This record gives sequence, C-alpha cells and structure tokens, in this order.
Amino acid sequence: MTHEIAVIPGDGIGQEVTPAAVEVLEAIESVDFDFVEGEAGDAVQAETGEALPQATRDLAADADATLFGAAGETAADVILPLRQVVDSFANVRPAVSYPALDAVQPDTDLVFIRENTEGVYKGIESEITDSVTTCTRVITEEASRDIAEFGFTYARQNGYDDVTIAHKANVMRQTDGLFLETAEAVGEERGADYDTALMDALAMHLVMHPEDYGVVICPNLAGDMLSDLAAGLVGGLGLLPSANVGPENALFEPVHGSAPDIAGQGVANPSAMILSAAMLLDHLGYDEEGDRVRAAVETVLESGPRTPDLGGDASTRDVTDAVLGEL
Ligand code: NAI
Ligand code: MG
Repeated sequence: MTHEIAVIPGDGIGQEVTPAAVEVLEAIESVDFDFVEGEAGDAVQAETGEALPQATRDLAADADATLFGAAGETAADVILPLRQVVDSFANVRPAVSYPALDAVQPDTDLVFIRENTEGVYKGIESEITDSVTTCTRVITEEASRDIAEFGFTYARQNGYDDVTIAHKANVMRQTDGLFLETAEAVGEERGADYDTALMDALAMHLVMHPEDYGVVICPNLAGDMLSDLAAGLVGGLGLLPSANVGPENALFEPVHGSAPDIAGQGVANPSAMILSAAMLLDHLGYDEEGDRVRAAVETVLESGPRTPDLGGDASTRDVTDAVLGEL
C-alpha cells in the first residue's frame, strides 16, 4: 500500500528541514510513500497574493497525511487553515529530554494533548469602544469529550501512567467547568487514573517536578503555553515535533517557525522535523518504524554531529546523513 503524503516546506528553514524528513521517510524500506509537494507561506504570498493557495489546501485534504515545515510572517494564514483542512481537533506535543543534552530538566517525558479548535482561539473578538475589547471563549461538551477521549487513549497506547487534566474551573466556572466535568467523566467511564490541576499552579509544578507528570490534557490556549514552557525544559525548539490529528487525516510539523535568523545557512537542526516524520509513521500504524527513527535521532543527539543550536558546528546535511546512517 502506498501512502500519499502532502509535503509543504513553506519558508525559511522549512525549506531546509522538510527535505531531510522526506529523505528519512524514503529510507524506511518497509513503507511506500508517494510525496506530492505544495507551496505555502510568505514567498507564495508575495508571488500570488495568497499565502495558502487552493491547490495546496486540496493537496492536504486529499493526502493520507501532511508534512509541514514552517511559514514566516504569514504563519497564521497558513497553519490555522491547514489544521482545519485536515479537521484536526487534537494537537499532540511531546516534550522529552535526551540524556546526552543538558536540559534544564533532564527527567522530562511529557505529552501535551491540546484541544485544537476552540477556547479563546476561536477568534471571536470584538472592539466595543476604542478602549474596550472582548474575546469570547468557546468550550463545548463535544470538543471537550473528543480531546479527553483522545488523551486517555493516547496515554494507554503509549504507556503513560500519569494523566492530568489542566483547567481553571475555579475562575472560568462555566467554560472550564464544562471542560473539566466532561474530561473527568471520560476518565471515570474508562476506569482510568487521573489527576486534575489548576493550570497556573501546574505551570510551576511542571518547571520544578516535570517527572511527576506524563500526559497533560489541556484546553487550547493553556496547551499552547504549557507545551512551550515544557519545550524550554528539554532544550529548545530544534527538538520538538508535533502532530495535528483529525478523525481521518493528520498534519505533522515541528513546533518551531521559519527561523529567519539562520535561514539559508544550512545549519538548521532537522531533529524536530524528523521526529515529526516519526509521529507520522506512528499515525499510519508503523509504530516500529517510528521507534526506529526516534532511536536514530537519539543516537545522533548523543554521539553527534550536532548543529550550532546544540553547541556543535555541523550542518543540516551532516545531521541528516548521520540519522540516515543510523537507520
Ligand atoms: P522560530 O521558531 O522561527 O525561531 C526562534 C529561535 O529558535 C530562533 O533563534 C531560531 O534560529 C531558533 N530555531 C528555531 N528552530 C530551529 C532549528 N530547527 N534549528 C536551530 N535553531 C532553531 O520563531 P520566531 O523567531 O518567533 O519566528 C520566526 C518566524 O516564524 C515568524 O515569521 C513567525 O511568524 C514564524 N513562525 C511560524 C510557525 C509555524 O509555521 N508553525 C511557528 C512559529 C513561528
Ligand atoms: Mg505556540
């Protein structure tokens, strides 16, 4: 069976790290891929006036999965609609520290399961007067149930014992009250062990004792912020993959952006993008192959070569070749 993968490199280092991930997938002999490339981002916007051309939307909608690099200034016009195109309700963001790198917190193994469609990111804002603005926070039982079911299933399938439901229901009694009540009901139905945590206190505990946590199920904005916080604990943006998962389709992307400060120099760390490709393999049911890719990246992180963000002087090419060599 051949899997059709939409490949959207985007801008800046997206153009450098995306081909690295494609090479890694091509090196997995047990799986057949057909890669189809699409344009998106600042460059295509400058050329055509559209950051996300219809042809690219169609590509992502029709593919079995999408690999996305990064966009620059047009990121919001590209990635938000793309996440909708694949109907992704769950944003999966692992933050794992590698023994060989000196992370702030070396015992971190967290996965944030972030609700990806509502909350304050629904985009319902108003200017009441020149000096008064509002934002409407949307929380539905349906979306809360979907993300909680996804989170508990993820924890079970991936061997995480700790599940934490993050919320602020003491203040946002209606919206997070519904989120919490719905997520807890899912935990009860499944007879699963879980904790609940106020998201502000959780931020502090995650910094001090990340080893006490595993899967963290979050409303949209909280998931965005807490996962970036955890990114800092494990050593930076060059290492963090993510998945946007829908019922039928999914998109995989590094957490980082287009990094204009280093773009074009051939020194971007391809690890985050290659680890995103490993998540794509998991998603398509090739868990063993996904594990192989993660092990190869881990070995290279340990023994080098390393890119400058990790204190080395290797290029994107050198690191990619080393990962391919391990595979
Ligand atoms: P950024 O993630 O592009 O860069 C932040 C810092 O991390 C920079 O110093 C960069 O050099 C470094 N960095 C990031 N990824 C790296 C990698 N793979 N290897 C080595 N170093 C890496 O975030 P920033 O600077 O806030 O935004 C730059 C542009 O990217 C903006 O135009 C922003 O709109 C866009 N962006 C796009 C995203 C997306 O497409 N999903 C997400 C975040 C930002
Ligand atoms: Mg963010």
